[in-house]
Amino acid sequence: PSIFRSVRSAIAGNIPRRAYSVDSVPERKVAVLGAAGGIGQPLALLMKLNPLVSKLALYDIAGTPGVAADVSHINTRSEVAGYMGEDQLSQALEGSDVVIIPAGVPRKPGMTRDDLFNINAGIVKSLCAAIAKYCPNALVNVISNPVNSTVPIAAEVFKKAGTFDEKKLFGVTTLDVVRAKTFYAGKANVNVAEVNVPVVGGHAGITILPLFSQATPKANLSDEDIKALTKRTQDGGTEVVEAKAGKGSATLSMAYAGAIFADACLKGLNGVPDVVECSFVHSNVTELPFFSSKVRLGKNGVEEVLDLGHLSDYEIEGLATLIPELKSSIEKGIKFANQS
Ligand code: NAD
Ligand code: LMR
Repeated sequence: PSIFRSVRSAIAGNIPRRAYSVDSVPERKVAVLGAAGGIGQPLALLMKLNPLVSKLALYDIAGTPGVAADVSHINTRSEVAGYMGEDQLSQALEGSDVVIIPAGVPRKPGMTRDDLFNINAGIVKSLCAAIAKYCPNALVNVISNPVNSTVPIAAEVFKKAGTFDEKKLFGVTTLDVVRAKTFYAGKANVNVAEVNVPVVGGHAGITILPLFSQATPKANLSDEDIKALTKRTQDGGTEVVEAKAGKGSATLSMAYAGAIFADACLKGLNGVPDVVECSFVHSNVTELPFFSSKVRLGKNGVEEVLDLGHLSDYEIEGLATLIPELKSSIEKGIKFANQS
């Protein structure tokens, strides 16, 4: 994808002037909340390499001066500033076009994403209250887990503040797509750079539903292969958590996925046509108020939530099985946001 081109040319210190001249590319401020963390640091690096960004605000409760000083020496377009502690959050957020939230605790082996709820729900709630106050028009990319609940929490906070715009709130599920593409390419023996696989539903275990029947390029995989690929995609996060053996969850692949999704949001804002990514958004595609599916991004955020297309019998079954779990995670988030 084009992020590779942007990253490659930025690494070469060579932002192509015709394609990305400062004159023709609008100013865009991106804020990363949780920027000193395992995801936050490599994500800060990738956003610094993105020529669509003119200002990069790095916020965390600790550690951001060092990360910001480090990243700021890279000779690319954006101006970098670090912000630390709640009293600097307003400055970090003001004027932001896109806010990316990887703040919160990660899993250890044996935990589910829902086990993170007690800590991360409060973090997302307070950060979203600040977003509502200081940059209510920003596109918000929620990475903090459990995404199936933190996105509904964000929506409730914005509703209470009177700033909710369903077109501007996104749960980042791009890592599921990244994994599905990688695993499919390996099994189908096709060029990974050409692979597309939609992943729908939510972002936890069986709520992650890759639609391999719609994968391109087409390959003749057996039912067994599809089942194994589906399970590996659903368990991809756990695979990393176990391999890291207590030292956290996916950070580097997540930073890559987060950078791809933020880049898509920026392209949409800038009016680039046909920018489509899967994301967990406010949705009418199923009976659930939030659901991940392909989304067309535009100048106001979500331009169109695409429906699921033709599903195989196996995928229809997977969809029916995931609905109750996803429903209860959404309800848990809504209840939390409204109880205190
Ligand atoms: P980490 O512990 O390495 O980093 C989290 C950072 O958040 C820390 O620097 C911490 O200081 C900061 N933080 C905590 N409270 C904060 C607050 N109130 N305001 C600002 N910053 C705050 O964890 P990580 O590995 O970077 O993971 C972060 C989150 O992302 C976890 O919840 C994890 O489960 C989630 N995650 C989601 C996906 C996805 O696909 N959506 C993928 C991987 C990880
Ligand atoms: C992932 O999918 O890697 C993340 O949601 C982190 C996790 O806890 O698995």
